[in-house]
Amino acid sequence: MTVKLAPSILSADFAHLGRQVQEAIDAGADWIHVDVMDGHFVPNLTIGPLVVKALRPLTDHVLDVHLMIEHPERLIPAFVEAGADIVTVHQEACVHLHRTVQQIKDLGARAGVALNPATPLSTLEDILPYVDLVLVMSVNPGFGGQSYIPSSTDKIARLSKMLARRGLEKQIEIEVDGGIKAANAAEVAQAGATVLVAGSAIFNQQAHVAANIAAFRQALRA
Ligand code: DX5
Ligand code: ZN
Repeated sequence: MTVKLAPSILSADFAHLGRQVQEAIDAGADWIHVDVMDGHFVPNLTIGPLVVKALRPLTDHVLDVHLMIEHPERLIPAFVEAGADIVTVHQEACVHLHRTVQQIKDLGARAGVALNPATPLSTLEDILPYVDLVLVMSVNPGFGGQSYIPSSTDKIARLSKMLARRGLEKQIEIEVDGGIKAANAAEVAQAGATVLVAGSAIFNQQAHVAANIAAFRQALRA
């Protein structure tokens, strides 16, 4: 799979969100990563389905919704209705993970499962055949602009081997999320990541969105 770039809107200028998303798409972003936080599962509060609904008409690109919320099953219908293409839930937030993954797929979206840095890959053993994506958190969820946790690279490599052993490497995306920069993009891609989420590396005041995305493409070509 070619490595896809999924800018996270968490670090975008929310006073001009539509324009920022348009800039990212025009600059070649593959997906748009939407970070949903409830102030309970993580100590931050962000957005709900209405922002997905507002962004949906802007693009046909994948809206990749990352639910960092407790009881995600309560809001999955609203996010799919709003236009989410992929809904990712946290393994740690789902007592009935198989049922929640099934709920996402029954509603017609693709299902992802996210693991916090301390959550072992082994917890995915029995859900892997049902998911479309595994999201490896390379920071503790809740905020943009944090530093990449170096042991995440090994975790991505072990996950990549886990999928290959089961012949699932073609049907399951490996997404990495947190502290991803042009400087470490090649490292995580070589470890097996197929989707890179980047927030502050793309939406920041240092350079334009297009220049930041170009820097990622350059790093991945190298
Ligand atoms: C963190 C979010 C990430 C975050 C990434 O809880 O899930 O998607 O926005 O931001 P950066 O790329 O700035 O680490
Ligand atoms: Zn995220």
